[in-house]
Amino acid sequence: MRSSPGQPAEIQITDLAHDGRGVGRLDGKVVFVEGALPGEQVQTAGLRHRGKISETQVASILQASPDRRDPRCPHFSECGGCSLQHLQYQAQLEARQIHLLGQLRRSGIEPVELLQPVSSEEFGYRRRARLVVEKRTRRIGYRRKSSNALAAVEQCPVLTPSLQSVLPSVAHLVVALKGRIEEVELAETSEGIQLLLHAQSPWRASLDLPAVESVARVMWLQGKQVRELYSGEFVSAVPGFMQANRQVNQQLVAAALDALQPLEGKNLVDFFCGAGNFTLALAAAGGGIIGYELSASLVEQARRHGLPNADFRCANLFDTRSLASLKKTLADVDAALLDPPRAGALELCRTLASNGPGQLIYVSCHPATFARDAAALVEGGYQLQSLQMFDMFPQTMHCELMACFRRC
Ligand SMILES: C[S@@+](CC[C@H](N)C(=O)[O-])C[C@H]1O[C@@H](n2cnc3c(N)ncnc32)[C@H](O)[C@@H]1O
Repeated sequence: MRSSPGQPAEIQITDLAHDGRGVGRLDGKVVFVEGALPGEQVQTAGLRHRGKISETQVASILQASPDRRDPRCPHFSECGGCSLQHLQYQAQLEARQIHLLGQLRRSGIEPVELLQPVSSEEFGYRRRARLVVEKRTRRIGYRRKSSNALAAVEQCPVLTPSLQSVLPSVAHLVVALKGRIEEVELAETSEGIQLLLHAQSPWRASLDLPAVESVARVMWLQGKQVRELYSGEFVSAVPGFMQANRQVNQQLVAAALDALQPLEGKNLVDFFCGAGNFTLALAAAGGGIIGYELSASLVEQARRHGLPNADFRCANLFDTRSLASLKKTLADVDAALLDPPRAGALELCRTLASNGPGQLIYVSCHPATFARDAAALVEGGYQLQSLQMFDMFPQTMHCELMACFRRC
């Protein structure tokens, strides 16, 4: 019997998609099934056909995977923040690694050496998050799975315990702000917990607001202007990018240091350096290094450490004129590290392919753009010597990776 729209179906699940949905086939068509795991036989809800694919959810599990488990979070079934809490951690790790290697293979690339993945605490690891505020109800939460609507949350077990503990008072504050806030960023920094409220309307002193206990700073962000919520004082720098998982980040930085040894006397560059996460560690270990970054406030934060052998420059690394002016700098460089945003850094990789140093370390949080960029590097004469996954985001299909390239 052929499947018609709205009809349920019985499907064997063979894979996991990049967003954590189970994947099976019906009448030769790929079907994405929310809530299903590889190895499972499931009865689905009604099918929605979209061109060459169909989508649906699990209605009942006829044969469960041995790796299935009960999700820890009560919000898991609707919240879009996590996609894999129903899968044992070891199986999650394998799924992320298979996805990463699959992306690379599609670009025709195999690493010479595949290193063991670096694992993480499964829960309580996330030290920054962005919550959405629902306009009508003023409740806070994340986007729902496959939808822009809000999944209100009262707890979030992937957050660090201290971020979790402030959620109730953040929710209370947002209600008191009477619809003026669209989003709330939470971050556990070295100076304590910081909240950045994305405001819809200009800051006003007249509001009678509850204090948020255990929080070091609450900031009001409107356009590019940032003010302290309670005093209204202007703040010079917006808190910027910070790796989400402290423990895995420490291992990532240690691995970069190891890969670039010996550092003494080396000239290095760190592209997309943020506030100097890698740059400062490499400089402290003896390397002479220039960090390039778009955000002026992150550059300012990095410079504050005052390391004499670390220089920080503002640059747009997606801009072809900036890239052209880098070519001269690259002539004197022994090794480069790049850690771009999810979009990757294709133009920079093309520049490196023709003018880059003997050694490159590419850190990525997006296997698909990494695979595309790696192909440009290989085309330019680099070889992918080693690849290692760093499990920065358990309970999701996201992962961080570090790749070491050498010119052959
Ligand atoms: C994945 S983060 C890495 C930051 C840093 N390496 C770290 O580990 O904290 C990517 C960084 O690229 C910066 N960025 C985004 N677009 C950029 C661009 N066009 N040019 C330069 N930097 C950019 C972001 O501000 C962010 O700091």
